[in-house]
Amino acid sequence: MTDANAILSTMRVSERRLRHTLGVAEAAKMLAATHFADLDLKTVELAALMHDYTKEYPIERHLELCALFGENLTEDDIENHKLLHAKTGSFLARDSFHLPEDACLAVYYHTTGRPNMTPFEIVIYLADYIEEFREDEGCIRLREYYQKRMAKEKNKNVALVKTLIRSFDTTIKHLMSKGKTINETTIAARNFYVKELARLLAK
Ligand SMILES: [Fe+2]
Ligand SMILES: [Fe+2]
Repeated sequence: MTDANAILSTMRVSERRLRHTLGVAEAAKMLAATHFADLDLKTVELAALMHDYTKEYPIERHLELCALFGENLTEDDIENHKLLHAKTGSFLARDSFHLPEDACLAVYYHTTGRPNMTPFEIVIYLADYIEEFREDEGCIRLREYYQKRMAKEKNKNVALVKTLIRSFDTTIKHLMSKGKTINETTIAARNFYVKELARLLAK
């Protein structure tokens, strides 16, 4: 497996995105240490550094990489091509930087989330949303919501799952307000965690 310098020294992104990436690394380590003691924080950091590694690649490069790594793209993937960086970042995490499979999958699912995410997937997905440098309204509100839930809920899993639901709701509402399509995996993830919350509260 690689180290942080190998990723950072080859990363071609704007200063703003680099700051966001470092923010995700910090937030992901905080979430892992708080909720999932078994996760290796060094590997969590590497996955966080990879999560937007290809974000500024031109679409042609994303399509080339998807073809190279045998990824079949749907019409939705092409239409929402801004999400392709999750797939191509994950291919490079595996192929060029030799990250373990759970880290590569966390990069792969960081934009949409999915039902029944692994702990690794949860920390990267949520860190991307709530890292301290994100300034859009939805992110600021979600960051505050997470902190409030963590202060109030006795069961920290409840705080985490409520925050996940709110993140999906925020994304879905935002896309609806723009008249855009909603990724089916995001809807399935939202429904899964609504049921998961009911299961947790029934205990
Ligand atoms: Fe991303
Ligand atoms: Fe990101």
